[in-house]
Amino acid sequence: MFFFVLLLYYFVMRKFLTTPIYYVNAEPHIGSAYCTLATDLLARYHRKKLGNDNVFFLTGTDENSQKTVEAADKEGQEIYSYLEDMSNRWRATWDEIGVSYDDFIRTTEERHVETVHDLLNRMLANGDIYKGTYKGKYCTGCETFLKDTDLDENGHCPDHKKPPVDLEEENYFFKLSKYQKPLLDWYEKNPEWLRPAKRKNEILAFLNEGLEDISVSRETASMGIPMPKDDFHKIYVWIDALINYYSAVQGKGRFPFWSDAFHIIGKDISRFHCVIWPAILLSAGIRLPAGVFAHGFFTVNGEKMSKSLGNAISPIELSQTYGNDALRIGLLSAFEFGNDGDFSREHFDVIYNSQLAGGIGNLFNRVLVLIDKFLDGEKPKASTKDMTESREKIEEAFEKLELKKAIDSYFSVVGDANQLLNETEVWRMAKTDLEGAKVVFADLLVYLEFLAEYATVFLPEKAPDIQAMLGDASKIGKAGVLYPRVTIEG
Ligand code: MSP
Repeated sequence: MFFFVLLLYYFVMRKFLTTPIYYVNAEPHIGSAYCTLATDLLARYHRKKLGNDNVFFLTGTDENSQKTVEAADKEGQEIYSYLEDMSNRWRATWDEIGVSYDDFIRTTEERHVETVHDLLNRMLANGDIYKGTYKGKYCTGCETFLKDTDLDENGHCPDHKKPPVDLEEENYFFKLSKYQKPLLDWYEKNPEWLRPAKRKNEILAFLNEGLEDISVSRETASMGIPMPKDDFHKIYVWIDALINYYSAVQGKGRFPFWSDAFHIIGKDISRFHCVIWPAILLSAGIRLPAGVFAHGFFTVNGEKMSKSLGNAISPIELSQTYGNDALRIGLLSAFEFGNDGDFSREHFDVIYNSQLAGGIGNLFNRVLVLIDKFLDGEKPKASTKDMTESREKIEEAFEKLELKKAIDSYFSVVGDANQLLNETEVWRMAKTDLEGAKVVFADLLVYLEFLAEYATVFLPEKAPDIQAMLGDASKIGKAGVLYPRVTIEG
């Protein structure tokens, strides 16, 4: 019996969704909010489908980085109090913009340090880690060694527009080269593991060139988790950071989530997640996550938005102007998930005024005011309208991680309802043919109920108001303005 219950427990459908953990040397911007809100949208969709307990959404902060030490120095702050302040600021930003994470991990936490040591010990034990000397060009912005072929025409890091520094030191190395073949085999057997396909092709091309062993420790770093049994060497921040995903499932009955881990990342960090991370796991004898999706960049005038380039836009500021629902819908519907796209305030104005204020907000208000007026708020008898097609469209888009398509499919239901309203002119019909109008109202309520049901996924900020407006089984609630129009200056 016990065995049977255990078996059942392991066969429950689950989803473990992760964002990258963010560097805390600056405040969040809409590039990081994009990634986090995309994961949040997916988490909300899966909670609706699988139940709250079967979804685990993880985010957090990447703190053992040399650049945080530099940032703390610049602020004249002690490093650990700086890390705590900044990590709290990231968390508070996610709270403020409605991110429904289940756990927030910090890489300076003891639970993480223990897991990092556990994995490194396993890799040491099987002979995959050895000592050697590293000489190369290092970019602190990327926290990585760059090859000459990675640099731009000025010899600078193309992302950070700065020359890398020459570094030579004794390091521990990971036998990454040993995993070229196992990784290629993995990709062959799991063709959907990394999406979209263009990212997989890049990784396959990289793997086919052959892999070099990588250094996994820093001699000079003042910040970092010490190597097991060797305090002098600090573990390379990227090795430590990747392990966060595994640290988060230790204890608290979370382990069953591991096999359902799905990483949402930006395309700039796909080599770390799609070459180094699976190689670490193979080396440590741990099952690989279920998949990875690498999205594109939000650009400002064609350039990647980033704290180091100084062109960052704050998600808080956008949320204060438009609200949290518009923030997520505006960011995630600007271009298809997986592609790059430019940020534009006009897009936000259009989304807000046409989809929210003039779209769903106006629709709810109009229909409910009419039902109140003509039917005294009584809900007409059940309609036969079938929403299966809309439901399937949304589900299919989510399964394929086509987030823009999922959002567009949701708002197309607002369009369908408006079309029915306008074609039937139900406000006129109700005066001469109340029975006919009741049929139309019943159909309209099916649309509204569908929109309210999925509001927990797409419009979580106003979802409770939207649902309250629909009242109970027999009577509608009170109509009201869900999204007041905003006048945008400039
Ligand atoms: N700390 C590492 C990740 C470690 S994960 C084990 C890191 N941090 S980061 O703060 O620099 O970036 C985190 C994520 O934000 C990356 O996925 C990156 O692609 C994403 N974005 C940063 N700027 C972005 C845009 N302008 N647009 C979209 N996403 C971008 O890398």
